[in-house]
Amino acid sequence: NNNNNNNQSQQMAILDRRLPRLLIIGVRKGGTRALLEMLNLHPNIAMVPVEVHFFDKFDNYQKGLDWYRSQMPLSTDGQLTVEKSPSYYVTPEVPERVYAMNPHVQLVLIVRDPVTRLLSDFAQIEASRAAQNLPNRRFQDVALLPNGEVNTQNRALHVSLYAKFLSRWLHVFPRRQLHFVDGDRLIHDPYPELQKVEHFLGLDHLIRRDQFYFNATKGFYCLTGTATPMDQLLLSNESSALNDDHVNYSHHHHHKCLAGSKGRRHPQVPDEVISVLRQFFAPHNRKFFAMVGQDFHWPE
Ligand code: A3P
Repeated sequence: NNNNNNNQSQQMAILDRRLPRLLIIGVRKGGTRALLEMLNLHPNIAMVPVEVHFFDKFDNYQKGLDWYRSQMPLSTDGQLTVEKSPSYYVTPEVPERVYAMNPHVQLVLIVRDPVTRLLSDFAQIEASRAAQNLPNRRFQDVALLPNGEVNTQNRALHVSLYAKFLSRWLHVFPRRQLHFVDGDRLIHDPYPELQKVEHFLGLDHLIRRDQFYFNATKGFYCLTGTATPMDQLLLSNESSALNDDHVNYSHHHHHKCLAGSKGRRHPQVPDEVISVLRQFFAPHNRKFFAMVGQDFHWPE
């Protein structure tokens, strides 16, 4: 017990804000929020709860690394800080800026069948158009040209061309600093994908299967909200400050599902439209698999 107290005070002494050693760089609608929240179950990970957009938004980048550090959560030196901003992946200036911060930083990209990702992205764009009272559009009128060919000028479609952006990252960082998460698998069975990330980061396998459960109403895995040692420390301090009753701690064990902006209904699209898109993406996907050295088995 004495030993424990010593460890605790040592940890408290070095509580500080640290620049990220891990970035989740994208991809938008790939499952970036779920991945971040699930990794945060690991006691050696301290997540930034918001998207900071330091490397992709020039106004933020100009504020400098001290500002970026000020956006980081408190962590012990046994923890690694992770930030995610999905637009990092597709913004041309970002790889070199990240390298300038730390050439040894580790990078995670979560990808998903590019057609599903496009449908998901479209659903998000239409939701924000609706919020601005703009008229809704049909998916096929946006993704295809009037002659039935793929509209290669569409921005959301571009984001699904994963290989195009990957070459810029691999130009700056060695392959071993990147890890790829299968977003389709993370949805249906998160645990094995998380174990692979732990392995990539050189962390002990401390995320447990019982820290998530499938919530049939949501149709997704939710977190059982089991607190990390850091949370426990902070929460027990908090409850003792309130009423000196550590039993109160159980009230903090709330379950956590992601917000309603995840799992939106995707548009209903005729099969022909989907097959035109699958054909279009097939060669890009194969190029991506070759670059990564991993086949994600996206339907062609
Ligand atoms: P849909 O909204 O298309 O279902 P991002 O966080 O990058 O925006 O990704 C959103 C996607 O994360 C959602 O896409 C959803 O399918 C996926 N996801 C994966 N695991 C999830 C989980 N446990 N809870 C909610 N969404 C999850």
